Amino acid sequence: MASTLLYEDLAGRLGAQIRRGLLRPGERLPSLRRLGRQERVSIATAVEAYLRLEREGLVEARERSGYFVRAAALRPPQARLPRLQARAPQALRNPALLDVLDVLSREDLLPLHVTTPAAELLPVRAIAAAASHVLRRDPGLALAYGAPQGLPALRECIARRYLHCGVEVDPGEVVITAGAMEAITLALRSVTRAGDVVLIETPTYYGILQAIAALGLRAIEVPNRVGAGIDAAAVRAVLARHRVAAAVLVPNFNNPSGSLTGEDDKRAIVAACGEHGVTVIEDDLYGELAYTGERPPPLRRYAGSTSVITCSSYSKTLAPGLRIGWALAGAHTDAIVRAKCFSSVATASLPQRAIAEYLARHDFDRALRRLRRELAANSQRWRDAVRRHWPADTRVSEPAGGMTLWLELGGGVEGQALLEAGAARGIGCLPGHLFSLRGDYRGHVRLGLGLAWTSRIEDGLRVLGRLADTLARRGAHKRTRP
Ligand SMILES: Cc1ncc(COP(=O)(O)O)c(C=O)c1O
Repeated sequence: MASTLLYEDLAGRLGAQIRRGLLRPGERLPSLRRLGRQERVSIATAVEAYLRLEREGLVEARERSGYFVRAAALRPPQARLPRLQARAPQALRNPALLDVLDVLSREDLLPLHVTTPAAELLPVRAIAAAASHVLRRDPGLALAYGAPQGLPALRECIARRYLHCGVEVDPGEVVITAGAMEAITLALRSVTRAGDVVLIETPTYYGILQAIAALGLRAIEVPNRVGAGIDAAAVRAVLARHRVAAAVLVPNFNNPSGSLTGEDDKRAIVAACGEHGVTVIEDDLYGELAYTGERPPPLRRYAGSTSVITCSSYSKTLAPGLRIGWALAGAHTDAIVRAKCFSSVATASLPQRAIAEYLARHDFDRALRRLRRELAANSQRWRDAVRRHWPADTRVSEPAGGMTLWLELGGGVEGQALLEAGAARGIGCLPGHLFSLRGDYRGHVRLGLGLAWTSRIEDGLRVLGRLADTLARRGAHKRTRP
């Protein structure tokens, strides 16, 4: 039988080493046999010591792998935004946004930096079948110009789907666009003029920042709190002090933070914008991707007399490359159709017809359930990998939907340094400063969750974690040098 004193003493010593950081989170502990030999105790005593540490939450047993130091619970990135009160509207001052294309177009990297759902997660065969059916059945129509507003059958499908979340949409106000990004750009073009101020959240998707810059607009930021979303009180405060022409917001599973804005905040944001005559342009790209399957309402649900233009697409749910998106344009329908027509005549016919055919003949809900399940599992897998392989002070978001993980690096490591070190090893990640107007979040990185889980992904996450650790140690070394 194990001696009580011996195992308690051994557990006490190992526990102290863990608490002092001598044994690091994720580190493998000696096997029972080795520990027994090393400490001159029986295997039974070694077992008792590990069981005690397990009860204390300091170690964990992994099937067929042995005992490991358990990481402290992952902490979420900090929600604070420095100096926000002092901020004034301003033009984009983030040169890194111009470089993002270089990173995104690198096909040689393990694509942990993208938010594209992998083909394995999408109903690609059914979509391909729908496309070839359309081409065979109506080649003339599939290859012809379509109406600037888009294919009526597709507009009806889109309108009908919003009934699932309690929003009545008239197909006559749906404008089909080349992805959500074109919908947002056309909406902005229709409701603003160069020099106007647009309210945005921070952090936010870099595409929104690029659109604002391209249209010569200025922006003012309100915080998107990790885990809590957009702060309605901050929106009210900004609208009380500044003349704002439009708000561009991502309330459902913001990219990069993954945060979901609560219903009370959504209602209050829409009301505040209505009171100040501000048009809300809502980017609802991830609305269908709640991991529970319970679709959070878009801002449109609370619109009342406020003008809300909801923009979205099938990029994250069916096929990013088909480039089919839409705007629920309401009172701005004519303006947006005109803007669409002047910029690209109409959205491509074949992809519109292929998606309409897919929606008519296949089970979109079933495909979505599968996708959500995979994304939820990925979120857990990615977080587990971070817990095991990244420095213990890394903070990680815990999204309830969407396709992104937002990490705050510890030890003063910059996202750009991790991007460069990762790219040199063939692994992608996006530095946090791409997601802000003036290059905040230098200590953050964003990872995408849309890949199919394989050992390559796990290895990539492990290598990135190790690189973050090396960079932190190097930085600490430099900081402590006289
Ligand atoms: C929040 C957000 N909006 C818009 C887009 C672009 O969407 P689309 O491919 O439909 O243009 C993305 C792409 O990742 C995104 O994350």
